[in-house]
Amino acid sequence: MSAKAGGDSTETTVAGTKDTLAARTSGNGPDPSIREGLAGVVIAQSEICKVDGERGTLSFRGYDIGELACHSTFEETSYLLFYGELPTAAELKAFSARLIGERAIDDTIWRILSVLPETVEPMEALRTCVSALCSIDCEDDDTSEANTEKSIRLVAKVPTIVAAYYRHKQGLSPIDPDPELGHAANFLYMLSGEQPTEMQAGSMDLAMLLMAEHGFNASTFSARVTAATLSDIYSAVTTAIGTLKGPLHGGANRRAMQMMLDIGSVDNVEPYITAALDRKERIMGFGHRVYKTAPDPRSAYLRGRLYELCAELGDFHYYDLATAIAETVEARKGLYPNVDFYAGPLLYLLGVPLEVFIPVFAISRIPGWTAHVMEQYARNRLIRPLATYVGPDNRPYQAIDQR
Ligand SMILES: CC(C)(COP(=O)(O)OP(=O)(O)OC[C@H]1O[C@@H](n2cnc3c(N)ncnc32)[C@H](O)[C@@H]1OP(=O)(O)O)[C@@H](O)C(=O)NCCC(=O)NCCS
Repeated sequence: MSAKAGGDSTETTVAGTKDTLAARTSGNGPDPSIREGLAGVVIAQSEICKVDGERGTLSFRGYDIGELACHSTFEETSYLLFYGELPTAAELKAFSARLIGERAIDDTIWRILSVLPETVEPMEALRTCVSALCSIDCEDDDTSEANTEKSIRLVAKVPTIVAAYYRHKQGLSPIDPDPELGHAANFLYMLSGEQPTEMQAGSMDLAMLLMAEHGFNASTFSARVTAATLSDIYSAVTTAIGTLKGPLHGGANRRAMQMMLDIGSVDNVEPYITAALDRKERIMGFGHRVYKTAPDPRSAYLRGRLYELCAELGDFHYYDLATAIAETVEARKGLYPNVDFYAGPLLYLLGVPLEVFIPVFAISRIPGWTAHVMEQYARNRLIRPLATYVGPDNRPYQAIDQR
């Protein structure tokens, strides 16, 4: 039962969730000093990622996302996020070999996956398994070197867990990682059992690289909150996975793709979007907390890659459909596509099943999360904000038989 504050208890429904105005108003309406959702609040200094929402630019460790998208790989970008510098050829070779060497998962994880109820979603399975990895990792050291090693293990093992669980749910046996394949190509291979083409592997690699890091987004922030209590890195990543799962964060890529499937054809875009906006629904894959005045820079690279993939397939249906939706939503609401929008059809055309879309985001974001957790440990202060209490005061306690 919720206690009511003074004033109206107006309720607004947004995207299926209830946001109770009564819970955040004090008598005369919202308190302007409260930054709801922490919007615009700077809470730390960070050397990992620069997001300029006004200009629509993004860089990792000082390297523009466009440079990385055109020239780097997921492995190299992960190294950059961990160590702050681009690797030499020898360093990259050794780092990639470390990742390959850590891909296998322990029997305990297989057993956990096999006893989960059938209704468990892949993100829930992943959250459970990452939590379990903590007790399997025998390194109880918490130096920055040990945490980097744990981060490498997480980057390497999470794709194996996701692919294994997906196949288990389909009644298929798991596929062992292929040490000859790069990180992205190996993930596609472990999902389907088929060697991806160069275009498919490159497209997956690009999608993962673009999603690898993005400043103090909700899941990264939640990981840092956990790390700031000096809890372990696995707990912090488990927290992040639980946060990413929500439809306003990682869940948007799957919903954006589902929307494209529901719309079906370019002719249906206008009536579908108009009806959804008239119902005050949110269009998944659009809008962003930080990129308000300029597009999310990641979406242009994903759109370009979607075009190339469609060209290779000789079928531009999803490119045309996505473009028509983007143009309509921008014209009607002034909202730009975010990273999730073009990632949807790209993953779909790569054969990634819809239920694995959010886990792909998690696989990609492990380097970002863990780099932030290590940065948090390096200059830690407990994260503990305040709230203005707007509930009732001075209530006399009534004995149970008098209520
Ligand atoms: C990302 C997101 C949560 C950012 O939210 P935010 O910064 O808190 O912005 P708000 O929720 O305050 O929205 C501001 C306004 O834009 C509207 N809006 C924002 N995103 C919208 C969307 N995708 N579709 C329709 N309207 C949207 C809101 O309804 C609100 O309108 P109002 O002022 O008339 O009520 C939001 O844009 C969203 O829900 N997008 C869809 C989910 C998504 O794609 N998430 C992935 C993010 S990478």
